Amino acid sequence: MFKFPKNFYWGAATSAYQVEGGIDNCDWAKVYPAGAACDHYNRYEEDFDIAKSLGHNAHRFSIEWSRIEPEEGRFNEKEIEHYKNVIMALKQRGVEPFVTIWHWPVPLWLRDKGGWENKKTIEYFFHYVDKIMLSLKSIQVKFWITLNEPEIYASNSYLKGVWPPQKKNFLSYIKVLRNLIKAHCEAYKIIKKINPGAQVGIAKNNIYFEGWLALFIDWWWNFYFLNQIRNFQDFIGLNYYFHNRIKGFKFNQNENRETSDMGWEIYPKGIYHVLKDLKKYNKPIYITENGLADAKDEKREKFIKEHLQWAHKAIQEGVDLRGYFYWSLLDNFEWDKGFWPRFGLVEIDYQTLERKIRPSALEYKKIIKTNGL
Ligand code: FCB
Repeated sequence: MFKFPKNFYWGAATSAYQVEGGIDNCDWAKVYPAGAACDHYNRYEEDFDIAKSLGHNAHRFSIEWSRIEPEEGRFNEKEIEHYKNVIMALKQRGVEPFVTIWHWPVPLWLRDKGGWENKKTIEYFFHYVDKIMLSLKSIQVKFWITLNEPEIYASNSYLKGVWPPQKKNFLSYIKVLRNLIKAHCEAYKIIKKINPGAQVGIAKNNIYFEGWLALFIDWWWNFYFLNQIRNFQDFIGLNYYFHNRIKGFKFNQNENRETSDMGWEIYPKGIYHVLKDLKKYNKPIYITENGLADAKDEKREKFIKEHLQWAHKAIQEGVDLRGYFYWSLLDNFEWDKGFWPRFGLVEIDYQTLERKIRPSALEYKKIIKTNGL
């Protein structure tokens, strides 16, 4: 029996654009519209009831910049109220909120100013964060995640040219990363100033690289951002999905024995390695995302169990891991891929928007209830 620490946070994650529906004032909506998505904007109470019934004691979600600041400097109090209600709905259920401030979409007005390529966006972000912190001060949210996966965003949007603004420009890519680093540090300072008890970090996508080149790639992909924000984080949020075996100079030489519906290799042991590698920062770690697309729900139970087993081994070897958020609570809009990948513990019927709990969600619940495997 693998027992997890007593106050461990167990839950699942979502992000606004992927589940809420009705977000049309941002760059993504113009390139990859998500329409009504899961209508989580209107059904969050029902969804939190489900999370609660599944034994979750924490939940990660994001607030949407384009809702809160639909035009430069004009904040929508009604939308802020909405997120207040969302947070209260979690708290009333005894579920600890982990709030992500920016999970990728950029408001249209900001897109037109150059988005994250523009240095001034650091300032815009600061004002957005400042407004949120002041507005939510009275309800005391403890856990804040400023940015979700800065490298994945920067590389898909500015190197590969797939995500908005669909650029392929190395200099832009570097500029965006530099601006995100500064934006995080400024946000960190303002959050701590307004809410000194807050715990602040980012959600970092780390990959388990193998091979002699791994040393260099690790330095850039896994550690550069974290090193730059070293003095401006209280915890590390880890998103783990990928393993990449480098042979010679060839990447992705994985054996791919088992894959998800998206063709992503399932490699649970990788979570152990990336966790161990983060130990050097001496910070608490939360696994802020880990999951797979599996429409038939054939592999999810094993996936969760094996990742947790390896995470547990890391804990035994001294890693200060304090929580696990499965991606995702609900099936949702998987960015440029659309709705077909099914990541949810809960299945969504996109015709009726009916929610259906998958069997693996109940297995995850059993682990949570016994606090072990
Ligand atoms: C991560 C994203 C998340 C989701 C999962 C599958 O990179 O943070 O929004 O799309 O991948």
